[in-house]
Amino acid sequence: MCGIVGYIGTKKATPILINGLLRLEYRGYDSAGISTIEKDGLSIMKDKGRVKNLSNIPGIDDLEGTIGIAHTRWATHGKPSKENSHPHMDNSKSFSVVHNGIIENYNELRKFLGDNGYTFYSETDTEVIPNLIHYYYSKDNNNDDEKLLRAVRSAVLDLKGSFAIEVISKFDKDNMIVVRKDSPLVIGTCEDENYISSDIPAILSFTRDFYLLNDLEFVVLSRNNATFYDKDLNKIEKDTKTIEWNASAAEKDGYEDYMLKEIHEQPTAIRETIGSKLSEDAPIEFDELNFNKEYLSSLNKIYIVACGTAMHAGLAGKNAIEKLCKIPTEVDIASEFRYRDPIIDDKTLCIFISQSGETADTIAALKLSKEKGAKTLAVTNVIGSSITREADYSIYTHAGPEIAVASTKAYTSQVVLLNVLALYFTQILGCGDAKLNDLKKDILDLPRKIEETLKVCENIGEFAKEVYQEHDVFFLGRGIDETVAKEGSLKLKEISYIHSESYAAGELKHGPIALIEAGITVISIMTDSKLVEKTVSNIQEVITRGAKTLVITNQKVDQKMFDKTIVIPDTNPFISPILSVVPLQLFAYYIAKEKGLDVDKPRNLAKSVTVE
Ligand code: G6P
Repeated sequence: MCGIVGYIGTKKATPILINGLLRLEYRGYDSAGISTIEKDGLSIMKDKGRVKNLSNIPGIDDLEGTIGIAHTRWATHGKPSKENSHPHMDNSKSFSVVHNGIIENYNELRKFLGDNGYTFYSETDTEVIPNLIHYYYSKDNNNDDEKLLRAVRSAVLDLKGSFAIEVISKFDKDNMIVVRKDSPLVIGTCEDENYISSDIPAILSFTRDFYLLNDLEFVVLSRNNATFYDKDLNKIEKDTKTIEWNASAAEKDGYEDYMLKEIHEQPTAIRETIGSKLSEDAPIEFDELNFNKEYLSSLNKIYIVACGTAMHAGLAGKNAIEKLCKIPTEVDIASEFRYRDPIIDDKTLCIFISQSGETADTIAALKLSKEKGAKTLAVTNVIGSSITREADYSIYTHAGPEIAVASTKAYTSQVVLLNVLALYFTQILGCGDAKLNDLKKDILDLPRKIEETLKVCENIGEFAKEVYQEHDVFFLGRGIDETVAKEGSLKLKEISYIHSESYAAGELKHGPIALIEAGITVISIMTDSKLVEKTVSNIQEVITRGAKTLVITNQKVDQKMFDKTIVIPDTNPFISPILSVVPLQLFAYYIAKEKGLDVDKPRNLAKSVTVE
């Protein structure tokens, strides 16, 4: 979705802003623009299309300003066009604004401003903001240092919806004002410079010290200062947080694409996520949680709520929690959960999984659960992200920044963390048995086994070459393997644009088998010894009907039956998705490469979906 960058310092702002926008490209966008404070007033340059188009606009290299704001737009209100691109200015060209989010009451505000003589030149919801700022600024007769801040505050308090906003003005050539509500924004700080961004990786090469903002906190940024105000404009103190990620974690590091790099980072991501929580002979530690036996025994239900890949990780979490702790657990898609009036009370624990911690539907579902009295637990990869500020408890995957839109290492890290969490619950409930020690050992052995899995997948690109021109792929599995089939199918859709579906293998004959014929590829995952024969029978049925088959397994199967078999290392069924998903990630990757597609930035998709 939209991305925001800002700079205030001693260097020329434009190259820094363009660099920041390029690093936010993965969020998804269709137009880009910048605005800087120049000697003779505000400059604005913008266009639809790629950041490259923006950097080719004549005159952009001549901009001298050392304060600027920048934006990549993902169209919501109005088509991608130069007029609709950000930044937007007020009618008098005194205020420049970029905005990420949605102003829900923009029609009402447009009417109000129209009645007061303002004209609109775009179809966006954003254009009301600079005009509202102008409206309040011109009504304020006090010409003190806080005049711009007051005008921004009055305008912001009129807005309904979600926003992260940067404002610069020709009336105040040394400051910038930023504010957020339900949309991401961080401030990176170092000597004589402040950087603003929608997320941390974009400015990680400049600083690792960040200020994290709560909703409706206003910040006045100068070159060497950041002053924070609450919504009533009382000054508040804020400390910086140092982010552990290093700058190279946000670089490709010799890999052709971020996605390939992130697939190969999975052993490290898993190792870091397990961290010191789990060891073979000590109790599991979650310093962030204070659940006791009485609380966990009182639970009538656990909901796991998430979107996309994170929801698929939730399915593996459900499997572990139900089987190990015997607590009924449901997995919900956040966008459905929030509107389906779920049965929640103070005996419900709601777990929200989100790599970014910024997904609008997931955050809304969390707020709803809190209102209904549930305890809420966030599982995320980003320290200080919105979800962590809302949840009662937060635990972290330590996957490092994930840049490719299609999630890989975040998924496997989430699955491992949910398994460790389930083990932790069994420890508190005292319901574990000796077999749990085997699971612990297997979890600790995962990084090594992912390395092995990556090796056995080395020639999956060959199979991708055989099938990349096909139009339909089915992913089948039973039990825990079905959850992985779902993730494999999503990966393929996301980056290769090939139609794919996932099914419980036993369900095939109840409809989808009608579609099976020559020219269709069927991929099946078989890691459960109790179910493997049944799935093999299902595959037999598709072979008879002419489908090409790829099997991912750790069981003994008659490989001659299938077009391609990938034998992955054996492991505990609870954590088998962490290994069996790897060939599926690579399969999707190589198919997309064969088709010559942009693997990291697939069409129409955004990494962080901050609107409903
Ligand atoms: C988007 C991304 C997916 C991701 C989903 C949830 O749709 O394209 O890759 O799984 O959002 O994101 P989250 O940050 O909440 O895990």
